Order: sequence, then structure tokens, then C-alpha cells
Amino acid sequence: MSTKESERAARRKAAADGHGTETIRLEISRYRPEQDTEPVFESFDVPMSEDWAILDGLNYVKDQLDGTLSFRWSCRMGVCGSCGMNVNGKPRLTCGTFLSEFGRGPVRIEPLKGFPVIRDLVVEIDDFLAKLSHVRPWLIREGEELPLTAEYAQTPEQLEAYKQYSMCINCLLCYSACPVYVLNPDFLGPAAIALAQRYNLDSRDQGDRLDLLNSDEGVWGCTFVGECTSVCPKHVDPAEAIQRYKVTAAMRSVLPWSRR
Ligand code: SF4
Ligand code: FES
Repeated sequence: MSTKESERAARRKAAADGHGTETIRLEISRYRPEQDTEPVFESFDVPMSEDWAILDGLNYVKDQLDGTLSFRWSCRMGVCGSCGMNVNGKPRLTCGTFLSEFGRGPVRIEPLKGFPVIRDLVVEIDDFLAKLSHVRPWLIREGEELPLTAEYAQTPEQLEAYKQYSMCINCLLCYSACPVYVLNPDFLGPAAIALAQRYNLDSRDQGDRLDLLNSDEGVWGCTFVGECTSVCPKHVDPAEAIQRYKVTAAMRSVLPWSRR
């Protein structure tokens, strides 16, 4: 064992001793472009605590064992959507996935599948951001000058019509789980379509996204595997959004004047 490795082992042991004797092993995918030609796994033992999420384990590694480990996170409460990773092969929010779920481990942590890896657990999401802006995820009003000053009241029923889709936090777990997106990078994907529907179903919106959604890269690319909905931590149900818009698109082919 090299001096560096024995120092690291001693640090791991000392850190674990300070937090009780029980530890759980995290097998973390590492990719450091300056030294790795492809991702490799590195194991770290972290204290096992009932109230620790995977993200706490990763932060422990970064703070105590290896400060070079790179990963994204911000809110620690399932809101910012930045901590998505593959945990034992499934896309999960690491701040909402507890170590206790994995017994004695090990827990394998990898970057979200389907996206280029920048470093360690950090992936490139430019493709999603471009697709998201492509579906125009904002209220479109016709013939009105900015700034808009009028009030656009809604009934509770009108809010309910799109509220579920507005809960999306752009965590991209659905893209990572989607077999179509992995095979066809041109597919708009679950969250972008669900967010298009969020605005299509908003009574204040006057936009028309048919040309974007009614295509093989849009809703017709979806083969309804449904994994996007299974992994979604916010119960957005993107699979339902897609199937719903298939009905809308089909209706509009026979009733072209209908909009939603
Ligand atoms: S639809 Fe669900 S899984 Fe997909 S990005 Fe939004 S919150 Fe995440
Ligand atoms: S850290 Fe924000 S969703 Fe997990």
C-alpha cells in the first residue's frame, strides 16, 4: 500500500471511529478527465446513520476522505433537483434516498445514465436545457405589449388542470430512466413534454406547441414504457402528460381549430 493509500485508510478509520463503529461502503464512480480514460469505481466507508441520506455520505467523503470528489447538490430537501444520480442502478435523488435502505451495503453510486459525464458524478445537461426552452415553457399571450399589468385570475379548477405538471424540479431522473432518450437523443423527453403540457393546460396561456410536440421527436417517439413516471420523485407523471397530448394531437388532426 502506498503512503498516500495508507494515509487515506487511516483517515477513513479515524473518521469512522469518531462516528461509531458501523460503516457502510459507497462504491463511487470516479472520472477525472486529466487522469482517467474511462470511469472507475472507488470505495469509501462512511458512518452508517439511520438519518443519513446518500448525499450525507457523499458529503462525508468530500469533507473527510477525498476533497476532490465532484457532485452537484444544493437544497438537501428534494426541491432544487440537482442531486440526481444512479443509486444501485436506479435514478434517484440522493438527498431523499437513505443509507438505511441498503442494509449493510455496498451502495453503488454513478452519474445519471444517458448524459455525458463531465467529472465524477457531474453530468452535462445542456441538451435538456435546449429542449426545455424549445417547448417554450412560459405563458404565451397574443397581441399584448410587455410589461403585462393586468391580473389573470384562475379558479381552483383551472389551477388543478395543470398543477401536477408544474411540480417538476428538472431533476432529469425521468430522462435517465427513459429507454427512448438513451437510444434517440433527439427525443424531446419526458420532462420537456410534461412542462409543455403544464403551459398547454394553463387557462392563461394562448400559445400553440403542436408543431413541436406532434412529431417523432415529440410525443410520438414515446413507446409508453412508463419508467419516467415510476422514478419521478414529484409525482409529475410525465408518461400521462405524453399520452394525453397524443390524444390532443390526434383530435387536432380531425378538428384543427381545437387548441388543447
Ligand atoms: S418529470 Fe419528474 S423525474 Fe422528470 S425532471 Fe420533472 S421532477 Fe424530475
Ligand atoms: S439537493 Fe436539491 S433535490 Fe436533492
